[in-house]
Amino acid sequence: VIDSAITTTIEQVTAWLEENRDNNLPAIAASAIAVVVVAVFFSLFSSPRSTAKNQPPMVKYTIPFLGNTIEYGIDPVKFLQKCQKTYGDCFTFLMLGRHMTVTLGADGNHFLFNVKLKDASAEGAYETLTVPVFGKEVVYDVPNALFMEQKKFVKDALSTAAFKTYVPIITAEVKDYMDSVFKNVPAGKEIEMETFEAMSQLTIRTASHCLMGKEIRDGFLTKLYHDLDAGFAPINVFFKWLPLPAFFARDRANKEMTDLFKSIIKKRKAENDTETLDVLNGLMKAEYKDGSRPSDDAIAHLMIALLLGGQHTSSTTSSWMLFELARRPDVIADLLKEQSMVLTGKPDTPAHLLPDLTYETLRQLSLMDCVMKETLRLHAPIHTIMRLVENDVEFKGMTIPKGNFVCAAPQVSHLTESKFPEPYKFDPLRHMGSDEGSGEWTINGVDIAQKSARSLFLPFGAGRHRCIGEAFAFIQNKTIIALFIREYAHRLGTDPKTGKQWFPEPDYTSLITIPKVPRKLLVKKKEVAA
Ligand code: HEM
Repeated sequence: VIDSAITTTIEQVTAWLEENRDNNLPAIAASAIAVVVVAVFFSLFSSPRSTAKNQPPMVKYTIPFLGNTIEYGIDPVKFLQKCQKTYGDCFTFLMLGRHMTVTLGADGNHFLFNVKLKDASAEGAYETLTVPVFGKEVVYDVPNALFMEQKKFVKDALSTAAFKTYVPIITAEVKDYMDSVFKNVPAGKEIEMETFEAMSQLTIRTASHCLMGKEIRDGFLTKLYHDLDAGFAPINVFFKWLPLPAFFARDRANKEMTDLFKSIIKKRKAENDTETLDVLNGLMKAEYKDGSRPSDDAIAHLMIALLLGGQHTSSTTSSWMLFELARRPDVIADLLKEQSMVLTGKPDTPAHLLPDLTYETLRQLSLMDCVMKETLRLHAPIHTIMRLVENDVEFKGMTIPKGNFVCAAPQVSHLTESKFPEPYKFDPLRHMGSDEGSGEWTINGVDIAQKSARSLFLPFGAGRHRCIGEAFAFIQNKTIIALFIREYAHRLGTDPKTGKQWFPEPDYTSLITIPKVPRKLLVKKKEVAA
């Protein structure tokens, strides 16, 4: 399509120049040359469309190279839902010159998450984006089999024994942070809380302390994290070589963060610390199947990958949980009742008299589980999941050619009406008693996979690339929200233009869907009766 559009453009420009030769208008000639230059630019950066037969239908577009980029970029979920109505569960759209084939529905999810390694790879899709941020020797910089071993190291380190130590750590971090926010604010006085910013703070403090160790939490350099994160731009998927200042800052931050982890590893080795149950210690003990051990650089880079992989996904989840709960005081009341029942055996123990949560009691908060699942259904942090097609591959009789990207869209599946009646309604109870999407793990050798990906609820993905942070994310977010609603009351702010209650739209401009600004909640510390 692009090639024929370019050829047509060039032919038309040539014909037009021929017609106007006698007029000899420099401005017109300059414009014509500009059109040709742009056309050549498109052709340089567009991947040519394969000639394979029986390909999925192509979504219409008007501008070559750009294709459907703008419509997809503004609201990928709406765009994909609209295409699904017109073209069915499998179609191809054009984004920045790349052919993106989408496979929707339970079968589409199953196809993408279980596609054979030789046919399509996550490495091909994400390597340019992740390797500069995480660093070498890990994740998509190594053969998939080695990465699977690395995932298993982390999965093993995230043991029940470790989780038991994490709940008190998270509790202390939440109290500490919220006390600092409300330091000079009397109980009962409402303040505006930038929700995503507050939840990002809580996520980074709790994750770094639990997973990376106390040293990194204490010496955590927010600027380093910020620079690394800023290098995680969607444009990186396509153009890694752009000389952007953000990329230089990213490389510097990776080096400094790696050095920081390496100095901690050295200190721990010297002190022979084997007691601490964080992931860093787990990785220091890890051994590959061939008997070798990950280098200190690899350990540091894996820690960076975990930090980045878990930060926005978790902080956007707790933010959306708070926003959804803000319009459902009835659910907040039920959540407090649940905590009271689990912790004291009575439904009405005042929140300030509830004992601290433990791993065991946290696990019994099933309504809280449902609230998190329902939030993930409506606001899946990763809306589109990509692989690069390495060999022509078949889906439902259609050929998805080598060179295309193939994508699943969990957020689109999550809104399927036949599976989730009134799909836009926040209804936590629809998950009660179901363990779908809750991490049924099969560990087969080193291969880590969910039993089936033929599902319409996959916020954590499935197959060999399935999330390994799910259990931690549940512990982290459940604890944060459980403690928040005990001590604080929150409600939605008001849109100054319309005077209506403000509930944020999703912001799709970064790789993770976060609430769009303004994303403020009105929060007050509850007054405790004397
Ligand atoms: C993979 C979602 C939290 C680490 C994934 C995938 C999804 C996902 C959808 C699959 C990606 C793909 O197939 O390409 C989430 C959500 C989270 C969350 C919704 C929170 C609510 C975390 C946390 C960590 C983490 C806290 C680290 C502690 C990882 C890793 C992978 C992964 C290492 C594997 C990537 C791969 O194999 O290619 N996550 N995640 N995630 N996640 Fe998470």
